[in-house]
Amino acid sequence: MDVNLEPDFLRVTEKAAIAAARTMGYGERKHSDKIAVEAMRQEMDTLAINGTIVIGEGERDKAPMLYVGEKVGADKDGRLGYPEIDIAVDPLEGTNLCATGSNNAIAVLAAASKGGLLYAPDIYMQKIVVGPTARGCIDIDAPVKENLARIAKAFDRDVHDLTVVVLDRTRHEELVAEIREAGARIKLISDGDLSAGLATAIRGTGIHALMGIGGAPEGVLTAAAIRCLHGQMQGRLVVLEDWHRKRLEEIGIKDHHHVYSESELASGDDAIFVASGVTKGDLLEGVRLFGGGVRVSSVIMSLATHTVRFIDSVYMDEDGVLEVMR
Ligand code: FBP
Repeated sequence: MDVNLEPDFLRVTEKAAIAAARTMGYGERKHSDKIAVEAMRQEMDTLAINGTIVIGEGERDKAPMLYVGEKVGADKDGRLGYPEIDIAVDPLEGTNLCATGSNNAIAVLAAASKGGLLYAPDIYMQKIVVGPTARGCIDIDAPVKENLARIAKAFDRDVHDLTVVVLDRTRHEELVAEIREAGARIKLISDGDLSAGLATAIRGTGIHALMGIGGAPEGVLTAAAIRCLHGQMQGRLVVLEDWHRKRLEEIGIKDHHHVYSESELASGDDAIFVASGVTKGDLLEGVRLFGGGVRVSSVIMSLATHTVRFIDSVYMDEDGVLEVMR
């Protein structure tokens, strides 16, 4: 994928984040999501790509925009010969977080050349994610205690000095009990396991692992970032209902118990990952609104160029007077 596309993709998440941030705290998560989707969709069509949404807002009949299979970009029918790019989006990851003005809502996108991202339907995925220090130490089928002991060893510290993020859900009662028994600290989060997964791979966040069950689409997006950051992830789709099984069959996934690595979830060697902060977070600042413009913080990572860029952009109103701070 042409590296020159990176700033264009950055603009896509920035615009979604800014739009969503304007609705922060309104208490209307669906509305916030819709606004982010519209902003992202509009920006996407300015890109010189023949794009296909592989992970989006749902199936065609359920989502009006950014649905799975939707063509996006300036060359939807391929007549201009622009590159064929698969795109996974989560225009507002943490809809509740935005609706309540809580930390860690982000706008996210991953892209890769055609076929480079697993099409995961909107079902759950069991996940375990660590950063580069603990790469090679995890096994989703091993007891929690064992995984934590190996992660602690990799960090050259005691298990008591590890922090594991888990989504605060009743389905995780057993997992939480096992982590507590092993002696690690836990950060229970109300939402947003994607940004928590990302945090495991960035030193200084104080997060050493993510464990538990969250959305499969978020899992694919996490995998793209984890690959760029040289961390490790394992994920297994969680089949609870008949329609899950049917949907997986339709898309050709036969082995429901398969443990996906980060490289299987995001297999494209030219994958990029972009996230822009909506509300203040562990990793990114939230959108800041000024009299004459707006400032947005993002991270953009590229597997092909081995770069991780933290970027702050100021969008000035056309006639706005704005003092740009460093
Ligand atoms: P939304 O942004 O769609 O609200 O998802 C937030 C989220 O917390 C994800 O981070 C997580 O993977 C998923 O929901 C967990 O789903 P559930 O709320 O059903 O447990």
